[in-house]
Amino acid sequence: MLSNLKPQAPDKILMLIEEFKADTRQGKIDLGVGVYKDPNGVTPVMRAVKEAEKRIWETQTTKAYTGLAGEADYRNALAAMVLKDVPADRLASVASVGGTGAIRQALELARLANPDVTVHVSDPTWPNHLSIMKFMGLPYVEYRYFDNETRGVDFEGMKADIAKAGKGDIVLLHGCCHNPTGANLTLDQWLEIVAILEKSGAVPLIDLAYQGFGDGLDADAEATRLVAKSLPEVLIAASCSKNFGIYRERTGILIALAENPAARDLAQGSMAYLNRQSFSFPPDHGARIVSTILGDDALRADWAAELEDVRNTMLGLRAQLASELRNLTGSDRFDFINRHRGMFSRLGATPAQVQKLKDDSAIYMVGDSRLNIAGLNADTVPVLARAIIDAGI
Ligand code: LMR
Repeated sequence: MLSNLKPQAPDKILMLIEEFKADTRQGKIDLGVGVYKDPNGVTPVMRAVKEAEKRIWETQTTKAYTGLAGEADYRNALAAMVLKDVPADRLASVASVGGTGAIRQALELARLANPDVTVHVSDPTWPNHLSIMKFMGLPYVEYRYFDNETRGVDFEGMKADIAKAGKGDIVLLHGCCHNPTGANLTLDQWLEIVAILEKSGAVPLIDLAYQGFGDGLDADAEATRLVAKSLPEVLIAASCSKNFGIYRERTGILIALAENPAARDLAQGSMAYLNRQSFSFPPDHGARIVSTILGDDALRADWAAELEDVRNTMLGLRAQLASELRNLTGSDRFDFINRHRGMFSRLGATPAQVQKLKDDSAIYMVGDSRLNIAGLNADTVPVLARAIIDAGI
């Protein structure tokens, strides 16, 4: 049986991790996978996470099962962090296996509710969105998003394409810090997207994987909050991997806002059912870390302060890189790096130029020229800037 299996194409982002490890050149620079690294190249365990783990270790008396939806304390605290004003009579939620697990369950839920669903995704989007949908056999179409000239959003194209989504279709949107481009909508533009969805009855699925990495914890959730209060049905897949730095704990949440309490109950039951069919109970350790932090004023403040440091470090690197490139080119054509937000920027380079960066300068980024800003530090920014020019970008 097993010999009938076909080789699977490796994930292009994860493949870079191995390729980078195997590179023996001194001074190699990893701008690949979306993991935060401090200026020393370390992905730290945040202070509040360490303290929360200590408290959990000291006080936890059982490892018995939680509920299929995960712990209510966790879900309530995280829903409040995302939405601020939680519409309790409309809210269904389940803990998920990271943000990816929330996306997968959201798509499963959409298909349960509407077997004819088509998913509309940005061009480009996180490659795993497409990979999951292909695996599920879920039809999808891409809407225009990135303008390769301005490295900003092609908003007119986006609006025209999103307007084609029909009632009961899903429109997958990045709540902030668009992955892979770093180019984001303004709040006014979000208002226009809401108006289009209101008219068509298409349901937004918001992928919120980087809350706190762009303009701040609240600012990054503004768009999601706007959508949540404006439309009758909204799905939100949020991740704690990046903002709590607990990547390997697989901690996320799927939130469904329903039109009324009866539909909410149906969604809650279906989401718990989907968990049961996929893995039974969601992982608890990361969820407990998050609820411990969010439920304690001092811990929460310390966590938020450390997250702000992370965010400001990335903003500083953006400013430094844009300014180096301004000096080297004598032009403002790389200023978009300073306008982008989150962990990533898409440079708009060709695959051959990305390859050249790797071959000549041992600089690794995703083939579509997405670079992870957090892979840089003050010393490597000038090295990258020089290499970008040498590669003819
Ligand atoms: C990324 O886009 O690099 C991250 O979301 C990590 C991943 O799982 O791909």
